[in-house]
Amino acid sequence: MVKITFREHDGSETIVDARPGLSLMKNAVAANVPGILAECGGNCACGTCRIYFDPEWRALMGTPRESEVEMLDYWHEEGDGARLSCQVLAVEAMEGMVLRLPESQS
Ligand code: FES
Repeated sequence: MVKITFREHDGSETIVDARPGLSLMKNAVAANVPGILAECGGNCACGTCRIYFDPEWRALMGTPRESEVEMLDYWHEEGDGARLSCQVLAVEAMEGMVLRLPESQS
């Protein structure tokens, strides 16, 4: 398990013991992170699981597929460390990582 902090727009935090190999969204939902709504259940179709990687963690954010890029574009949040948490798997190297969540998911 790896400790990943989800920081809401208001600064409140939930520290999740995340299981590597499971998406960040599924890990967050299992831990009742309030700001991960995940309305489509992980199908890259709602954009309510958005997260932001700060610069020091962006090497781990990977590259989104075209469908995810389109969804981030819909939310005007492509780039700047934005990803859909349902499309990113937790990995061991994320130990201690802090992810920020958008105001629209608060
Ligand atoms: S859960 Fe809907 S896009 Fe990620």
